[in-house]
Amino acid sequence: MGLSLPLEDFPTLVLDPARLPRHVAIVMDGNGRWATRRGLSRLEGHRRGKDSARTVIEVARELGIPYLTLFAFSNENWQRPIAEVSFLMALLRRYLMTETKRLCKRGIKLIILGDQAKLPHAVRMVLDEATRLTAANTDMTLALALSYGGRQEIVQAVKSIARAAASGELDPEQINEALIASRLHTGHLPDPDLLIRTSGELRLSNFLLYQLAYTELYFTETLWPDFGEREFLRAVVAYQTRERRFGAVRSSD
Ligand code: FPP
Repeated sequence: MGLSLPLEDFPTLVLDPARLPRHVAIVMDGNGRWATRRGLSRLEGHRRGKDSARTVIEVARELGIPYLTLFAFSNENWQRPIAEVSFLMALLRRYLMTETKRLCKRGIKLIILGDQAKLPHAVRMVLDEATRLTAANTDMTLALALSYGGRQEIVQAVKSIARAAASGELDPEQINEALIASRLHTGHLPDPDLLIRTSGELRLSNFLLYQLAYTELYFTETLWPDFGEREFLRAVVAYQTRERRFGAVRSSD
């Protein structure tokens, strides 16, 4: 039986629990604009953005989506004013300190994608603790992309493969798509089925460049702090209207 949704865009559609995306990835964009449009500081936008992240994690877990990846801080975000970077790092640290217990209660495992060496020591400490405490959870995997860049991720994968080939541990003939995927930060996570980007920007912004090859893209004008349960469900319903062919033709053609 489907879950009925009171969505004005899809009045006749229901969410089909049998065809949920296995992996949803989200570019949480528009916190700054949300705040400045209200005469608030950008930092207030990030604070509200953290609440949207918490809501979406809960809804994904309720629905039974096994993998959720959130782009929380990009490699390029280090170029923002120091006050904003410090605020985001503190927000993240507080979020992890207060939410790890809840993640455990919900059976959610936390993993981190990105160059953790660049993160402040205090953030790395809570990340280590949170990933350790949630490591045995199996109901859902939450991947936080932090200090993450898709091209940088590919470069480090290429380096690790080149090193293995140079040392004779790997025959270059063995290099295939699966081997490259296994050397990315996402390791053995399935590729995202659905990518959501908020705030009306139509870009990938260096996010999961290798992994998004066949992902369905969903863009919404909604700014991230306004993105809640209804918006998330709307994106999943839209995904279920898509026909995924992975480059092949429809069986009826
Ligand atoms: C993009 O909005 C958002 C970010 C750079 C940070 C995302 C962080 C959060 C949502 C909060 C922390 C998350 C967790 C999981 C605790 P922007 O500042 O680029 O917005 P703009 O394009 O309107 O300026």
